[in-house]
Amino acid sequence: MVDPPVGVQRGLEDVIALESRICFIDGKQGRLIYEGHDIRDLAKSSTFEEVAYLLWYGRLPTTAQLAGLKERLALLRELPPALATRIDSMPATANPMDVLRTAVSELALFEPEETRPGPSSIGGAQRLTAVLPSILGQFHRRRSGMPRLVTRPHLSAAAYLVYALLDREPTELEAHALDVALIIHADHELNASTFAARVTASTLSDLYSAVTSAVGTLKGPLHGGANERVMELLEEIGTPDRAEEVVKAKLARHERIMGFGHRVYKVEDPRATILREWSRRVGEAKGNLRYYELLRKVEEVVHREKGLYPNVDLYSGSVYSLMGIPHDLFTPVFAASRVAGWTAHVLEEYQDLRLIRPMAKYVGPIDLPYVPIGERR
Ligand code: ACO
Repeated sequence: MVDPPVGVQRGLEDVIALESRICFIDGKQGRLIYEGHDIRDLAKSSTFEEVAYLLWYGRLPTTAQLAGLKERLALLRELPPALATRIDSMPATANPMDVLRTAVSELALFEPEETRPGPSSIGGAQRLTAVLPSILGQFHRRRSGMPRLVTRPHLSAAAYLVYALLDREPTELEAHALDVALIIHADHELNASTFAARVTASTLSDLYSAVTSAVGTLKGPLHGGANERVMELLEEIGTPDRAEEVVKAKLARHERIMGFGHRVYKVEDPRATILREWSRRVGEAKGNLRYYELLRKVEEVVHREKGLYPNVDLYSGSVYSLMGIPHDLFTPVFAASRVAGWTAHVLEEYQDLRLIRPMAKYVGPIDLPYVPIGERR
């Protein structure tokens, strides 16, 4: 056995891997800050495009700067025709996150200029953020037999995402709700997918490779995807009077209740507070408060029984479901927002580059004799 020079921090828990000025999470006070701005202020007053600008450039845009960015993002929605054809050839039964990962990787083949590492990658950051809804729309529309996608430049990022996926423009309230969801998912410090993107960028690989790594990492159910399982729980519970019984039975079997608990937040996730209100507002507008009432009841039981607080995933699925977004597109919608954060972190990595290469504690044998292949049993 070889003695390691340092102890092992499984899952890199509590390890501070780098300095960043993009995002701060105050887990004790339940605060989330992007570039100095509280998420509650941004959710109340800004738009996803404004937040993307903030993450990429480190400051809020002026009116002219925001208008310029919106115009550019709208122009960048168009898919290369060859990529649209490729997406059409993918199996209709494919996992949309697999489609997204493959399409992001292939997009780089059509845009070699944009894939060069370095500060010029801001063009790639904008391209990827603009085009992700088009990739998802191209795939989902074909598998659902909807008309082909046309990019509608007059639509905001949030409204275009709804249009791309559902072939209808959202109501003002729906567009606002999705815009808030995109704002609050846009970054979250060194979460697993952002870390994966930074590891890839730290080898001086290109932005598209970094985002491909990130999409593959977000796909895992321990990262993206908990909101989908929350909706399954609601279907299982059915009516609020059954919440107590179903949740208690799960806890007795030591099952985790999705949408609760967090590695960093020790109080309520501020994103859950914001989305709870939007779940109620969208539910009221649709005349369907069933999800909201069920979730409130589940919250009450889980807090009483385990002292756990909700995280961002508890209410997001209810907002998306009320809008008619299919469950298997919840994680891709998350990606369509987090791509702003991934790309901001990759740009920061290029500015302050240091190859990310931790060590492993070796726990295997050493000095084993080499047995010729013919003598092995
Ligand atoms: N349901 C039931 N019990 C839970 C839950 C939960 N959701 N979360 C934590 N606990 C319990 C654990 O069983 C453990 O109890 P014990 O000490 O009696 O064994 C205790 O709380 C601590 O749990 P850990 O796993 O050590 O806490 P950690 O901080 O590592 O976990 C995590 C964070 C993975 C998010 C966890 O709370 C969880 O699995 N939640 C459900 C999945 C989920 O909602 N994920 C979305 C997170 S937000 C995001 O990624 C966008």
